[in-house]
Amino acid sequence: VNFKDKFEQRKTEMDVVILKYLPKEEGFSGKIRAALNYSMKSPGKRLRPMLMMETFQMFQGESEAIYPFMAAIEMIHTHSLIHDDLPAIDNDEYRRGRKTTHVVYGEPTAILAGDALLNYAYETAFSAFDEEASYPCVCQALTVLAKKTGVRGMLGGQSVDVINSKNPVEQEMLDYIYIHKTAALIEASMMIGAILAQAGANEISRMEAIGHNIGLAFQIQDDILDVTGASKELGKPLHSDEKNDKTTYVTLLGIEAARREVDRYTGMAVDNLLSMPGEKTFLVELLQFLSIRRK
Ligand code: IPE
Ligand code: IPE
Ligand code: MG
Ligand code: MG
Ligand code: MG
Repeated sequence: VNFKDKFEQRKTEMDVVILKYLPKEEGFSGKIRAALNYSMKSPGKRLRPMLMMETFQMFQGESEAIYPFMAAIEMIHTHSLIHDDLPAIDNDEYRRGRKTTHVVYGEPTAILAGDALLNYAYETAFSAFDEEASYPCVCQALTVLAKKTGVRGMLGGQSVDVINSKNPVEQEMLDYIYIHKTAALIEASMMIGAILAQAGANEISRMEAIGHNIGLAFQIQDDILDVTGASKELGKPLHSDEKNDKTTYVTLLGIEAARREVDRYTGMAVDNLLSMPGEKTFLVELLQFLSIRRK
Protein backbone atom coordinates (compact mmCIF):
# COMPACT_ATOMS: atom_id res chain seq x y z
CA VAL A 1 0.00 0.00 0.00
CA ASN A 2 1.39 3.41 -0.90
CA PHE A 3 1.70 6.27 1.57
CA LYS A 4 -1.30 8.29 0.29
CA ASP A 5 -3.66 5.32 0.75
CA LYS A 6 -2.34 4.61 4.23
CA PHE A 7 -2.74 8.30 5.13
CA GLU A 8 -6.34 8.47 3.82
CA GLN A 9 -7.19 5.23 5.61
CA ARG A 10 -5.90 6.56 8.92
CA LYS A 11 -7.66 9.89 8.42
CA THR A 12 -10.94 7.99 8.06
CA GLU A 13 -10.17 6.09 11.26
CA MET A 14 -9.56 9.40 13.05
CA ASP A 15 -12.89 10.75 11.77
CA VAL A 16 -14.73 7.73 13.16
CA VAL A 17 -13.22 8.29 16.63
CA ILE A 18 -13.86 12.05 16.56
CA LEU A 19 -17.50 11.71 15.42
CA LYS A 20 -18.27 9.37 18.28
CA TYR A 21 -17.63 12.06 20.87
CA LEU A 22 -19.41 15.07 19.33
CA PRO A 23 -22.46 16.52 21.16
CA LYS A 24 -26.02 16.14 19.89
CA GLU A 25 -27.45 19.28 18.28
CA GLU A 26 -30.50 19.64 20.51
CA GLY A 27 -32.27 21.89 22.98
CA PHE A 28 -32.00 25.66 23.42
CA SER A 29 -28.20 25.40 23.02
CA GLY A 30 -28.59 23.67 19.63
CA LYS A 31 -26.95 26.53 17.73
CA ILE A 32 -23.66 26.51 19.61
CA ARG A 33 -23.58 22.72 19.36
CA ALA A 34 -24.12 23.00 15.61
CA ALA A 35 -21.29 25.56 15.33
CA LEU A 36 -18.98 23.31 17.31
CA ASN A 37 -19.86 20.28 15.17
CA TYR A 38 -19.53 22.30 11.97
CA SER A 39 -15.92 23.13 12.76
CA MET A 40 -15.08 19.65 14.04
CA LYS A 41 -16.58 17.90 11.00
CA SER A 42 -14.70 20.10 8.53
CA PRO A 43 -12.09 18.06 6.68
CA GLY A 44 -8.82 18.68 8.54
CA LYS A 45 -5.72 16.53 8.24
CA ARG A 46 -6.33 15.04 11.73
CA LEU A 47 -2.59 15.19 12.24
CA ARG A 48 -2.58 15.43 16.04
CA PRO A 49 -4.75 12.39 16.80
CA MET A 50 -2.85 10.53 14.08
CA LEU A 51 0.50 11.29 15.72
CA MET A 52 -0.98 10.26 19.07
CA MET A 53 -2.21 6.92 17.72
CA GLU A 54 1.03 6.18 15.84
CA THR A 55 3.11 6.87 18.95
CA PHE A 56 0.74 4.76 21.06
CA GLN A 57 1.12 1.85 18.64
CA MET A 58 4.87 2.29 18.43
CA PHE A 59 4.96 1.63 22.19
CA GLN A 60 2.45 -1.21 21.81
CA GLY A 61 -0.28 0.52 23.76
CA GLU A 62 -3.52 -1.31 24.41
CA SER A 63 -5.72 0.90 26.59
CA GLU A 64 -9.05 2.15 25.26
CA ALA A 65 -8.24 5.42 27.06
CA ILE A 66 -6.43 6.56 23.92
CA TYR A 67 -9.71 7.26 22.06
CA PRO A 68 -11.10 10.09 24.20
CA PHE A 69 -7.65 11.70 24.18
CA MET A 70 -7.45 11.51 20.37
CA ALA A 71 -10.81 13.29 20.13
CA ALA A 72 -9.79 15.79 22.83
CA ILE A 73 -6.56 16.90 21.13
CA GLU A 74 -8.42 17.50 17.85
CA MET A 75 -11.05 19.53 19.77
CA ILE A 76 -8.38 21.71 21.37
CA HIS A 77 -6.71 22.20 17.98
CA THR A 78 -10.04 23.05 16.31
CA HIS A 79 -10.88 25.49 19.12
CA SER A 80 -7.56 27.23 18.37
CA LEU A 81 -8.52 27.49 14.68
CA ILE A 82 -12.00 28.95 15.34
CA HIS A 83 -10.46 31.66 17.51
CA ASP A 84 -7.40 32.17 15.27
CA ASP A 85 -9.71 33.03 12.35
CA LEU A 86 -11.85 35.57 14.27
CA PRO A 87 -11.91 39.20 13.03
CA ALA A 88 -10.00 40.29 16.16
CA ILE A 89 -7.19 37.81 15.48
CA ASP A 90 -6.25 36.75 11.91
CA ASN A 91 -9.58 37.75 10.35
CA ASP A 92 -9.82 34.91 7.82
CA GLU A 93 -12.94 33.71 6.03
CA TYR A 94 -11.92 30.23 4.85
CA ARG A 95 -10.71 27.20 6.76
CA ARG A 96 -10.48 23.60 5.61
CA GLY A 97 -12.10 24.65 2.34
CA ARG A 98 -15.19 26.06 4.05
CA LYS A 99 -16.40 29.39 5.39
CA THR A 100 -15.02 29.97 8.88
CA THR A 101 -17.25 29.42 11.90
CA HIS A 102 -17.78 33.12 12.61
CA VAL A 103 -18.82 33.75 8.99
CA VAL A 104 -21.45 31.00 9.13
CA TYR A 105 -22.73 31.36 12.71
CA GLY A 106 -21.82 34.95 13.59
CA GLU A 107 -19.04 36.20 15.81
CA PRO A 108 -20.74 35.84 19.22
CA THR A 109 -21.58 32.19 18.60
CA ALA A 110 -18.11 31.49 17.18
CA ILE A 111 -16.42 32.95 20.28
CA LEU A 112 -18.60 30.83 22.55
CA ALA A 113 -18.28 27.74 20.34
CA GLY A 114 -14.49 28.04 20.58
CA ASP A 115 -14.67 28.28 24.38
CA ALA A 116 -17.22 25.46 24.57
CA LEU A 117 -15.06 23.25 22.39
CA LEU A 118 -12.02 23.80 24.59
CA ASN A 119 -14.04 22.82 27.64
CA TYR A 120 -15.67 19.93 25.79
CA ALA A 121 -12.19 18.61 25.04
CA TYR A 122 -11.58 18.19 28.77
CA GLU A 123 -15.03 16.70 29.35
CA THR A 124 -14.12 14.17 26.66
CA ALA A 125 -10.62 13.48 27.99
CA PHE A 126 -11.97 12.96 31.53
CA SER A 127 -14.17 10.18 30.17
CA ALA A 128 -10.91 8.17 29.82
CA PHE A 129 -11.37 7.36 33.51
CA ASP A 130 -14.30 5.16 32.45
CA GLU A 131 -12.01 3.15 30.15
CA GLU A 132 -8.79 2.81 32.03
CA ALA A 133 -7.87 0.84 35.09
CA SER A 134 -4.50 2.60 35.35
CA TYR A 135 -5.58 5.97 36.75
CA PRO A 136 -2.05 7.40 37.18
CA CYS A 137 -1.52 7.23 33.40
CA VAL A 138 -4.74 9.12 32.69
CA CYS A 139 -3.84 11.73 35.30
CA GLN A 140 -0.40 12.21 33.73
CA ALA A 141 -1.93 12.47 30.25
CA LEU A 142 -4.43 15.10 31.46
CA THR A 143 -1.64 17.10 33.06
CA VAL A 144 0.32 17.15 29.80
CA LEU A 145 -2.80 18.03 27.79
CA ALA A 146 -3.66 20.99 30.02
CA LYS A 147 -0.13 22.35 30.30
CA LYS A 148 0.66 22.18 26.58
CA THR A 149 -2.62 23.95 25.79
CA GLY A 150 -2.48 26.82 28.27
CA VAL A 151 -0.38 29.93 28.92
CA ARG A 152 2.77 27.84 29.06
CA GLY A 153 1.83 26.20 25.77
CA MET A 154 -0.33 26.89 22.71
CA LEU A 155 -2.29 29.83 24.12
CA GLY A 156 0.88 31.48 25.41
CA GLY A 157 2.33 31.25 21.89
CA GLN A 158 -0.83 32.55 20.22
CA SER A 159 -0.85 35.57 22.57
CA VAL A 160 2.76 36.52 21.75
CA ASP A 161 1.96 36.03 18.03
CA VAL A 162 -1.09 38.29 18.18
CA ILE A 163 0.30 41.16 20.25
CA ASN A 164 3.40 41.38 18.05
CA SER A 165 1.59 41.26 14.71
CA LYS A 166 2.57 44.78 13.72
CA ASN A 167 6.00 44.78 15.40
CA PRO A 168 9.33 43.59 14.06
CA VAL A 169 10.02 40.19 15.63
CA GLU A 170 13.48 38.66 15.99
CA GLN A 171 14.36 35.01 15.58
CA GLU A 172 14.37 34.29 19.31
CA MET A 173 10.83 35.54 19.81
CA LEU A 174 9.63 33.93 16.59
CA ASP A 175 10.96 30.58 17.79
CA TYR A 176 9.17 31.12 21.10
CA ILE A 177 5.93 31.72 19.17
CA TYR A 178 6.29 28.60 17.00
CA ILE A 179 7.43 26.35 19.83
CA HIS A 180 4.32 27.31 21.75
CA LYS A 181 1.53 28.07 19.30
CA THR A 182 2.23 25.01 17.12
CA ALA A 183 4.81 22.59 18.55
CA ALA A 184 3.19 22.36 22.02
CA LEU A 185 0.08 20.49 20.83
CA ILE A 186 2.19 18.19 18.63
CA GLU A 187 4.45 17.45 21.60
CA ALA A 188 1.34 16.75 23.71
CA SER A 189 -0.01 14.36 21.07
CA MET A 190 3.13 12.25 21.02
CA MET A 191 3.72 12.39 24.77
CA ILE A 192 0.15 11.28 25.52
CA GLY A 193 0.44 8.41 23.04
CA ALA A 194 3.56 7.28 24.90
CA ILE A 195 2.09 7.87 28.38
CA LEU A 196 -1.07 5.85 27.71
CA ALA A 197 1.07 3.04 26.28
CA GLN A 198 2.94 3.07 29.61
CA ALA A 199 6.26 4.11 28.10
CA GLY A 200 9.04 5.15 30.47
CA ALA A 201 9.90 8.73 31.47
CA ASN A 202 12.92 8.79 29.19
CA GLU A 203 10.88 7.66 26.18
CA ILE A 204 8.18 10.23 26.94
CA SER A 205 10.72 13.04 26.94
CA ARG A 206 12.24 11.76 23.71
CA MET A 207 8.79 11.91 22.10
CA GLU A 208 8.48 15.47 23.39
CA ALA A 209 11.75 16.37 21.66
CA ILE A 210 10.58 14.74 18.43
CA GLY A 211 7.26 16.60 18.64
CA HIS A 212 9.18 19.85 19.13
CA ASN A 213 11.09 19.37 15.87
CA ILE A 214 8.00 18.23 13.96
CA GLY A 215 6.13 21.28 15.26
CA LEU A 216 8.77 23.75 14.10
CA ALA A 217 9.01 22.11 10.66
CA PHE A 218 5.21 22.10 10.44
CA GLN A 219 4.77 25.82 11.24
CA ILE A 220 7.58 26.91 8.91
CA GLN A 221 5.98 24.87 6.10
CA ASP A 222 2.65 26.54 6.99
CA ASP A 223 4.35 29.94 6.54
CA ILE A 224 5.76 28.84 3.18
CA LEU A 225 2.34 27.64 1.99
CA ASP A 226 0.79 30.98 3.00
CA VAL A 227 2.98 32.47 0.23
CA THR A 228 3.45 29.66 -2.31
CA GLY A 229 0.32 27.53 -1.87
CA ALA A 230 -2.88 27.37 -3.89
CA SER A 231 -5.79 28.57 -1.79
CA LYS A 232 -8.18 26.01 -3.24
CA GLU A 233 -5.87 23.16 -2.35
CA LEU A 234 -4.87 24.71 0.97
CA GLY A 235 -8.48 25.31 2.02
CA LYS A 236 -7.57 28.68 3.51
CA PRO A 237 -6.70 32.08 2.05
CA LEU A 238 -3.17 32.86 0.88
CA HIS A 239 -1.24 35.87 2.19
CA SER A 240 -2.99 35.90 5.57
CA ASP A 241 0.39 36.61 7.21
CA GLU A 242 1.19 39.52 4.92
CA LYS A 243 -2.30 40.97 5.45
CA ASN A 244 -1.64 40.94 9.20
CA ASP A 245 1.93 42.30 8.87
CA LYS A 246 3.36 39.18 10.46
CA THR A 247 6.98 38.31 10.78
CA THR A 248 7.37 34.68 9.68
CA TYR A 249 10.26 32.41 8.75
CA VAL A 250 9.62 33.46 5.15
CA THR A 251 9.89 37.19 5.84
CA LEU A 252 12.87 36.67 8.14
CA LEU A 253 14.95 34.19 6.09
CA GLY A 254 13.37 34.03 2.61
CA ILE A 255 11.68 31.01 1.05
CA GLU A 256 14.78 28.98 0.23
CA ALA A 257 16.32 29.24 3.69
CA ALA A 258 12.91 28.57 5.26
CA ARG A 259 12.68 25.38 3.19
CA ARG A 260 16.09 24.33 4.45
CA GLU A 261 14.88 24.83 8.01
CA VAL A 262 11.86 22.58 7.33
CA ASP A 263 14.25 19.89 6.07
CA ARG A 264 16.63 20.37 8.98
CA TYR A 265 13.93 20.06 11.67
CA THR A 266 12.31 17.14 9.84
CA GLY A 267 15.70 15.40 9.57
CA MET A 268 16.31 15.78 13.31
CA ALA A 269 12.87 14.35 14.10
CA VAL A 270 13.35 11.40 11.73
CA ASP A 271 16.85 10.59 13.04
CA ASN A 272 15.64 10.70 16.61
CA LEU A 273 12.67 8.49 15.75
CA LEU A 274 14.79 5.94 13.89
CA SER A 275 16.97 5.46 16.94
CA MET A 276 13.95 4.31 18.97
CA PRO A 277 12.53 0.79 19.14
CA GLY A 278 9.12 -0.14 17.70
CA GLU A 279 7.35 -0.06 14.33
CA LYS A 280 7.47 3.42 12.83
CA THR A 281 7.52 3.04 9.05
CA PHE A 282 4.33 5.06 8.57
CA LEU A 283 5.37 7.70 11.10
CA VAL A 284 8.65 8.33 9.24
CA GLU A 285 6.81 8.51 5.90
CA LEU A 286 4.31 10.91 7.48
CA LEU A 287 7.05 13.29 8.64
CA GLN A 288 8.64 13.26 5.20
CA PHE A 289 5.27 13.89 3.56
CA LEU A 290 4.51 16.80 5.92
CA SER A 291 7.75 18.53 4.95
CA ILE A 292 6.65 18.68 1.30
CA ARG A 293 2.89 18.96 1.84
CA ARG A 294 0.76 21.34 -0.24
CA LYS A 295 -1.99 21.73 2.37
C1 IPE B 1 -3.22 24.72 11.12
O1 IPE B 1 -3.06 23.39 11.50
C2 IPE B 1 -2.68 25.62 12.19
C3 IPE B 1 -1.26 25.47 12.41
C4 IPE B 1 -0.75 25.09 13.54
C5 IPE B 1 -0.33 25.79 11.33
P1 IPE B 1 -3.30 22.20 10.46
O2 IPE B 1 -2.56 22.48 9.21
O3 IPE B 1 -3.00 20.91 11.16
O4 IPE B 1 -4.87 22.33 10.19
P2 IPE B 1 -5.95 21.24 9.79
O5 IPE B 1 -6.36 20.57 11.07
O6 IPE B 1 -5.35 20.26 8.82
O7 IPE B 1 -7.08 22.04 9.20
C1 IPE C 1 -1.88 29.47 14.12
O1 IPE C 1 -0.91 29.83 13.21
C2 IPE C 1 -1.53 28.37 15.00
C3 IPE C 1 -2.67 28.10 15.93
C4 IPE C 1 -2.46 27.79 17.17
C5 IPE C 1 -4.05 28.18 15.44
P1 IPE C 1 -1.48 30.45 11.84
O2 IPE C 1 -2.33 31.63 12.12
O3 IPE C 1 -0.36 30.58 10.88
O4 IPE C 1 -2.41 29.23 11.36
P2 IPE C 1 -3.28 29.27 10.01
O5 IPE C 1 -2.33 29.55 8.87
O6 IPE C 1 -4.33 30.32 10.19
O7 IPE C 1 -3.84 27.87 9.92
MG1 MG D 1 -2.60 33.04 13.63
MG1 MG E 1 -4.24 32.11 11.10
MG1 MG F 1 -0.45 30.20 8.78
